[in-house]
Amino acid sequence: MTRKRYALVGTGSRARMYLKALTETHADVGELVALCDTNPVRLAYHSEQLQPATVATYPAADFEKMLDEQRPDCVIVTSIDVTHSDYICAALDRGLDVITEKPMTTTAERIGKIVDSVEKSSGTLTVTFNYRYSPRNSMVRKLIADGEIGTVTAVHFEWLLNTSHGADYFRRWHREKKNSGGLLVHKSTHHFDLANWWLGRSPESVYARGGLRYYGDENAAARGLEPRPALSRDTDPATDPFHFDLAANETNRRLYLEAEQADGYHRDQDVFAPGITIEDNLSLLVGYAGGANLSYNLTAHAPWEGYRVGFTGTAGRLEIEVVESSWVRPATTNVDPTANDDGEHADVRPKGARILLQKHWQQATEVEVQTSSGGHGGGDVILLDDLFREPREDALGRKAGYLDGIRSVLVGVAGNQSLETGLPVRLADHGFPLEEGPA
Ligand SMILES: NC(=O)c1ccc[n+]([C@@H]2O[C@H](COP(=O)([O-])OP(=O)(O)OC[C@H]3O[C@@H](n4cnc5c(N)ncnc54)[C@H](O)[C@@H]3O)[C@@H](O)[C@H]2O)c1
Repeated sequence: MTRKRYALVGTGSRARMYLKALTETHADVGELVALCDTNPVRLAYHSEQLQPATVATYPAADFEKMLDEQRPDCVIVTSIDVTHSDYICAALDRGLDVITEKPMTTTAERIGKIVDSVEKSSGTLTVTFNYRYSPRNSMVRKLIADGEIGTVTAVHFEWLLNTSHGADYFRRWHREKKNSGGLLVHKSTHHFDLANWWLGRSPESVYARGGLRYYGDENAAARGLEPRPALSRDTDPATDPFHFDLAANETNRRLYLEAEQADGYHRDQDVFAPGITIEDNLSLLVGYAGGANLSYNLTAHAPWEGYRVGFTGTAGRLEIEVVESSWVRPATTNVDPTANDDGEHADVRPKGARILLQKHWQQATEVEVQTSSGGHGGGDVILLDDLFREPREDALGRKAGYLDGIRSVLVGVAGNQSLETGLPVRLADHGFPLEEGPA
């Protein structure tokens, strides 16, 4: 069997999942032929990790040259969000297939360019929405699709990012909206995709409110914090819970610290340093075709991390609560190492997931979720099979196409528009296709 040829652009942290698949678990069906990035140090790091295999490397300016010389069948896009559409369109315009990381892109203008390229191309565009594959999220889809709570009339969805993972978005390139589209695009695209997929419906309208209320220099000054260094490595490790030492971790050191000299990008900008143009508190009201509405809230500075979703239907209610991380151990070196997790301070919010189903006139039941080995409860294997192996029947319809990419990212893009104007946005006004068939 001939193996499909893959080139990957954007050799940062996320690239690793695809590189591992193409050189190990899925090497029987796919061949990695080239890597491309703006940063030569990160390119060299990944090349070294792939040895003994040798893979051609190209600077980003030579992306087209890479396509000419290496003749991939498919391009995998794992570069920073704002660059996705350039690579997606360039590859589709040559008739190549594309697999892109979420978010598909960051603005309405860029969505328009992708739509034009998809419509003219013989290639396909797949957006990797890995959250669908987590067994608990798949179970929610199954329960709703099976009609367990009747027709869904309302969804209440809260996502909490903590002061570790959440803070990271305020340290990295994501902190500038021009790079990431802000959290409504970069992060919430996962959540909007889940909501769209769970409901099996398209979003129609969006109204958003939000702001930067915790991170950033102005909030720090308003709370009386002393001025801080520009980089988290330079804060006092004894007292600063946000201290971040890139050198302490081998991957961070090699991928980011040693790569700084090539492009000046710092992965550890201080969360209270100037220059943040994204929000850390966001709320949305989304109207769905068929009448359901979604109320959504995202916080990026919570003391624990996870999500809660409640679905109200004509036949009952379904609730999921997931605790991904129950508390954040501060980075300070003088903290009591047993604080909060010794026997005396047993955690009242243990890590884990709980799904409750309650039909009208009945007591609630807890739904068991089967997991298997491998990342994300076995979900990663199914995702990679969907990306790299022959198409297969999937009653849950987990593999996401470009319409799913639009449906999800357009909610975030419209949310940003609503934040700017203070007005609700009708998604149809953008004129992009949201369903199969003509727009
Ligand atoms: N699905 C998920 O759960 C998940 C998780 C993490 C990241 N991601 C996505 O993966 C992508 C990469 O994120 P990351 O965490 O690996 O970031 P990263 O900063 O580790 O890597 C980004 C890479 O893009 C490169 N780059 C920047 N500008 C470029 C350009 N013009 N051309 C080519 N390369 C360029 C950088 O040099 C860097 O190597 C993002 O789109 C992100 O949303 C998805």
